[in-house]
Amino acid sequence: MDLLQKLEHRTTVLQQYIAYRGSLHHLELKGKISSRMTFDDKEYIVWCLNDYLGLMHHPESVAAATEVTRLYGPSYPHSVRLTIGHTQAHDDLELTLSNFLGREDTMLVNLGYQGFFSIVDALTDRHDTIIYDQKCHACLIDGVRIHNGRKFAFKHNNVEHLEMQIKRALKTHNPNNGIILVIVDGLYSMHGELAPLDEIVKLKKKYNFTFLVDDSHAFGVFGDNGKGSPEYFGVEQEVDVFLSTFTKSFGNLGGFVSADKKVIDYLRFAVRSQIFSRTMPLPMVTGVQKNLDIFLKEPERRTRLWQNTRRFRNGLLALGVNIGNSQSPIIPIKINGTHQDGLDIYFGLRELGIFSYIVAYPVVAKGTCLIRMVCTYNHTEADIDETLNAFKVLKKKYPESLSNPRNRNRNISV
Ligand SMILES: Cc1ncc(COP(=O)(O)O)c(C=O)c1O
Repeated sequence: MDLLQKLEHRTTVLQQYIAYRGSLHHLELKGKISSRMTFDDKEYIVWCLNDYLGLMHHPESVAAATEVTRLYGPSYPHSVRLTIGHTQAHDDLELTLSNFLGREDTMLVNLGYQGFFSIVDALTDRHDTIIYDQKCHACLIDGVRIHNGRKFAFKHNNVEHLEMQIKRALKTHNPNNGIILVIVDGLYSMHGELAPLDEIVKLKKKYNFTFLVDDSHAFGVFGDNGKGSPEYFGVEQEVDVFLSTFTKSFGNLGGFVSADKKVIDYLRFAVRSQIFSRTMPLPMVTGVQKNLDIFLKEPERRTRLWQNTRRFRNGLLALGVNIGNSQSPIIPIKINGTHQDGLDIYFGLRELGIFSYIVAYPVVAKGTCLIRMVCTYNHTEADIDETLNAFKVLKKKYPESLSNPRNRNRNISV
C-alpha cells in the first residue's frame, strides 16, 4: 500500500467539511479583526476571538513590537533558548509573571500547545501515574498520549470519579519512585465551565498528588486580580504547576509555566519542545510584556469584560437559548438537534451579520454541536444587542434547535 492508497481509507472527521473551504473553514481574513470585521465586503460582529481583554491590537504593544522588529527582525533571537535564544526581555517577562502570580519562577514557552504537551512529558516517566479530566485541552491529552506509565481519565469535572481513579491508581502506585500527577484545565475552552479546583484541592490534601492546571482561558479573567482560576477559588498555593498561553487575554503568541524554582530549573533543561525548537521571538515577548503592564494598570478592562458577559448571557437566557453551564465569557450555544441544524443556525447568524464558530465532534462529544460565542472587552452594548436581536429572529425560525430541552416548559428569570 502506498501513502495515497492508505489515505483513501483514512479521512479525518473534519475532512468531511472540505467543500466548505472559505465559508466554514480557511476563511480568508482581510484587514483588522476586533469586535467587528469585514468579510466578503460585508461588516460582521465578531464572536470568535479569545482576545478577552481587547489587548491584541493595543497601540502601545504594537509600537513596542514594531520597534524591536525594525531593529532586529521578526524572529530574533532566532535560536533555542538554551543557546543564544535568550535576551534580558525574556528574563524580565518571566520575572513579571512570577511576581504577579506570587510564584518562585517562570519559564516561557514558544507556543502553548507544544510547550504544554512537552511539559507533561518532561514531568513524568514510566513510574508516574497521570490522572486527567477527559475534556482537557488537546495539548495536555497529547502529553498524556506519549506517557509510557499508567494513565487514567476521569469524567469531566466529576470529583467523585476523580477520587475513584486516584484510589485505583494508588493500588499499584509506588510513592517511593513516582508521583501521581492530576491534570485539569482551569476553564474549559468549549463549554466555558470552571474546574472545581476547591473540591480537587480537598482531594489533594487527602491523597497528596501533584496538581497541574492549564489556566489559558481563566488567566487574566478570573480572580480578584485576574490571576486566574486558582485565585478565584483561593487555592493558589495548592497548584504545583501553573500553565497559560498568551494567545487569549494577552493577545499574542507563546505561553509560560510557573512553579517552584526547582521545578523550573529542571524544566529549562528537560522540555524537549523548547530544547529542540526556537525561542519565543523578541517582538512577541515585548508585546506581551507591554500588554501585561497595561493589564496591571487597567483593571477596568476586566470589569467591562464581565459587564459585557453578563449583558449577553442574560439576554440569551431571556430568549430561552441553551448556554449549558457556562460560567465565563465563553458562551456555548448548545444546539438541540443534528449537526445540520447547527449549520443552519451558524449560517443564519452569518446572514444576519454575526460571525462565530460552529464546534462539532471531535472537539466536542459525538452527536453534539455548539456555536461558540466569546465575549470580549471590545464588544459594545450595540454589538451585544444586535447579536441578541439576531438570536431572537433565529429562535422564531428554528424554535426546536435553539430550545433548551431541560427548560422547555420553564420560565427563565434573569
Ligand atoms: C486550554 C488551552 N491550552 C493550551 C492551548 C494552546 O495554546 P497556543 O495557542 O498557545 O498553542 C489552548 C489554545 O487554544 C487552550 O485553549
